Amino acid sequence: MIQDAIRALRNGQVILLYDYDNREAETDLVIAAEFTTPKSVYQLRRDAGGLMCVAIDPVVCSNLGIPYIVDVLRYAGNSGNGFKSIESIYEKVGDIPYDSKSSFSLWVNHRKTYTGITDVDRSLTINKLAEVTHQAMNGNHVNFGAEFRSPGHVPLLRAAPNLLKDRKGQTELSIVLARAAGVTPAMVMCEMLDGETGKALSKKDAMEYARKHGLVFVEGKDVEELFNSSMN
Ligand code: 5RP
Ligand code: ZN
Ligand code: CA
Repeated sequence: MIQDAIRALRNGQVILLYDYDNREAETDLVIAAEFTTPKSVYQLRRDAGGLMCVAIDPVVCSNLGIPYIVDVLRYAGNSGNGFKSIESIYEKVGDIPYDSKSSFSLWVNHRKTYTGITDVDRSLTINKLAEVTHQAMNGNHVNFGAEFRSPGHVPLLRAAPNLLKDRKGQTELSIVLARAAGVTPAMVMCEMLDGETGKALSKKDAMEYARKHGLVFVEGKDVEELFNSSMN
């Protein structure tokens, strides 16, 4: 099954990635940023319906200085510049019930987008994120601010430095899969929500969606097995 997921990502297909029963218990639709088209953006917003984000490899985040947004807020809040509302707004350990910290980073638009939210605009931003990730992975210079502006409509997620050793969200799970597939490790994901209840789509219904559309469904535990075996 995990090999099917790796193959699908390499072929530019969408997969379903569930985390854990004792974590969010959510399934995300996931596709590599390099293969994303306006049609994929449409599929993710129509069939998943959550927040469309792009997880970035920790090596790239570190090279480009892509921060956790919590660090930016803490810094700004403590700067003494009168930003009263953010003095204590930044997330602290214990704030989120399913993990010790979220992976949110900057929200960006590519500078050639118009509003940034249309399928065409988001797809452009996402493709450009894949491009700069590829450049940074190859040690080439990237001027991030020349390519993107913030705020924007595509939230970046910063994967933890040691991936699953540090954190087990879809942010890290998707980067483990990207590395295994040999695709550029910038991964688009969007949570699947239930159109009737408004809750997270149940695992059973997510598996049924996968079956109906001929897509691969994998879980955190399968990805973890791959991650642990690759480290031995
Ligand atoms: C961003 C999220 C999603 O849950 C996404 O799956 C990434 O987060 P995590 O790594 O915490 O699972 O919150 O919309
Ligand atoms: Zn989440
Ligand atoms: Ca998640």
